[in-house]
Amino acid sequence: MPNFFAKTLSLLRYPMQSGSLPVIRRIGRERAADCAALHALSFAHPWTVAELEQLLGAKECLADGALDGKTQSLFGFILSRQAADEAEILTIAVDPAHRKAGIGAKLLAAHLAKLAAARVKTLFLEVDQNNVAARALYARFGFSQVGERKAYYRTADGSRATALVMRLDLDERLSSRERHDSLGSNSKPSS
Ligand SMILES: CC(C)(COP(=O)(O)OP(=O)(O)OC[C@H]1O[C@@H](n2cnc3c(N)ncnc32)[C@H](O)[C@@H]1OP(=O)(O)O)[C@@H](O)C(=O)NCCC(=O)NCCS
Repeated sequence: MPNFFAKTLSLLRYPMQSGSLPVIRRIGRERAADCAALHALSFAHPWTVAELEQLLGAKECLADGALDGKTQSLFGFILSRQAADEAEILTIAVDPAHRKAGIGAKLLAAHLAKLAAARVKTLFLEVDQNNVAARALYARFGFSQVGERKAYYRTADGSRATALVMRLDLDERLSSRERHDSLGSNSKPSS
């Protein structure tokens, strides 16, 4: 089993190499319009504000945002849905102007720690097999492919793309002390 918690903890404890440091914290439906704007910059078939409002407000969903510490602008967000001891990452998106600066990894690290603290044991997601950036991000955290869905996504040009189903088993060895530490002070709910 990959020791992703070592990576998670190191990402949470050390700042990014460049740019302004984002604060990672829980967000809710009050950020639906911002999330929709980021989603539209990131996906060919973006979710509406109403759809995001519903997901961000659902009790089984958890969302974290990467926010500018001063202006509170949203650099990126991640959203998952939990059912019993399993969860699915529904989406993650970073503002194109701030990509490749470690924000996606920071968001995912913080989110994984929260899901582990919420007793999630197994995490799933789907990713377009042509999505090099997202696949690199998930590989870094030890996700492995467990299936594929052919012609699953509609792309911008109307063609179909294969979705890879990825899985990560969260490390049950993480002690309660580490869980506490990894959540840190920057992951308190915003509201
Ligand atoms: C996927 C996404 C969230 C990554 O966010 P990011 O902030 O740019 O990612 P990071 O800077 O934290 O990089 C994380 C890892 O991915 C790699 N990576 C990021 N962008 C990459 C790219 N375009 N090509 C190759 N590798 C890339 C980084 O090198 C890093 O790996 P490393 O630590 O081994 O070097 C961002 O590209 C995005 O929003 N894409 C559009 C939405 C999307 O596709 N979401 C995923 C849906 S499944």
